[in-house]
Amino acid sequence: MPDEKSFHMTPDEFRRHGHAVVDWIADYHSRIESFPVLSQVKPGEIRASLPANAPTRGEPFEALLKDVERLILPGVTHWQSPNFFAYFPCNASGPGILGDLLSSGLGVQGMLWSTSPACTELETHVLDWLVRMLGLPEKFLSSNAGGGVIQDTASSAALCALLAARERATNYTSNQKGCDGRIVAYASTQTHSSLEKAAMIAGIGVSNLRLIEVDDKFAVRPEALARQIEADKRAGLVPCFVCATVGTTSSNAMDPVAEIAKICGRHNLWLHVDAAMSGTAALCPEFRHLQNGVEFADSYNFNPHKWMFTNFDCNCFWVADRKALIKTLSILPEYLRNQATESGAVIDYRDWHIQLGRRFRSLKLWFVIRHYGVEGLQHHIRRHVQLAQEFAHWVREDENFELAAPVPLNLVCFRHKGGDAANQTIMERLNRSGDLFLTHTKLNGKFTLRLCVGQTNTGARHVERAWRRIREEAEKITAP
Ligand SMILES: Cc1ncc(COP(=O)(O)O)c(C=O)c1O
Repeated sequence: MPDEKSFHMTPDEFRRHGHAVVDWIADYHSRIESFPVLSQVKPGEIRASLPANAPTRGEPFEALLKDVERLILPGVTHWQSPNFFAYFPCNASGPGILGDLLSSGLGVQGMLWSTSPACTELETHVLDWLVRMLGLPEKFLSSNAGGGVIQDTASSAALCALLAARERATNYTSNQKGCDGRIVAYASTQTHSSLEKAAMIAGIGVSNLRLIEVDDKFAVRPEALARQIEADKRAGLVPCFVCATVGTTSSNAMDPVAEIAKICGRHNLWLHVDAAMSGTAALCPEFRHLQNGVEFADSYNFNPHKWMFTNFDCNCFWVADRKALIKTLSILPEYLRNQATESGAVIDYRDWHIQLGRRFRSLKLWFVIRHYGVEGLQHHIRRHVQLAQEFAHWVREDENFELAAPVPLNLVCFRHKGGDAANQTIMERLNRSGDLFLTHTKLNGKFTLRLCVGQTNTGARHVERAWRRIREEAEKITAP
């Protein structure tokens, strides 16, 4: 019988096309500054350029790569551009990309230790490394009562923390019975919106997530938190969880973790520390004071996929008491039973997060840490912070601009003194120009520009140019 057509890509074809893709990525990174940072396409434009139906016949790989260039690139906002200053960084690096490629190549699904022991053990090991690298408490180590796990995002980490807190506060009965509307959780008005989503999903209810007021630095007021907890207890409610943020998304505010921890201790509440955006800074000992009090946290997370050169997605989440998390999230159907699990000698990460299946994400994290070394990572973080501090200095010195919040690290919140409309116009013109990409927030009700320095290749010339372009646009709108 003649060989049937397989339709598959042969190993030799894969090798050839793989080289072409790696070349394409390397070239893309070399020419990234030639693209407008913010995609300039209109809604629907990309879809309109695609065929209405899927091809019946397979196409040559060269055609696919050509279409990436022709059809997809115009619709890409270039997060890896050194002129990307919007939202928060989502930086990537050669070792991160290659680690991710290897993960795809191995195609491992690591739901259980036994479905790929290396996937679990490397993850545990790298997360233990990070405990020491970030100056986190020893209780988070897997050799103690805690442990770390890679989640897809900080949103999932917050949800897992909230679920475990809810279970602990109800003596592990709410998974069975559901919530009775009496469980309450606490965050600040500046806490990331993922906490609100977590409250919805965890059945706590958004109105039972108390958003506590903040001070003039946008950090939560501990005395207001304590007052609210006491009032809720008097009303017969069951407080269970507080989220403290080390680096809020809007303005990089730092909640006073140590003071919040004292309150949590008094009321036996689960303290979750969200350092998604800024936690990477703790690689440098001089920035660790910002997380003082983390030693009292029940859980902590940060996003290497934001500022630690590990391409999306990669969130690191630790708990002080892994038993509480596992008891909350574990269900064991017959078809997943195996000897290693029964022996109790292994970690099965499926019990540490929402989904069952999981990718081999620790490979890219391991590659990044080994490629840069702690020293290399510290070098870049310090550089980013220094560049942001210089930018803040220029803002302070310019009579037409003002800072809108303290600048503890790499995010500068600032505004032109001409008012909301002027700031909005400056931002829109800059973003339309494609030269750089900035986003905004509202602080004290005022439209505020945000410039976050954290892309892999952002250097002095990019920040200097950004400031020059901002002033140029400002001059245009204020010219008589
Ligand atoms: C402080 C903080 N928490 C949570 C998040 C949510 O991150 P993720 O996209 O990983 O869910 C972000 C980023 O947007 C953040 O800055």
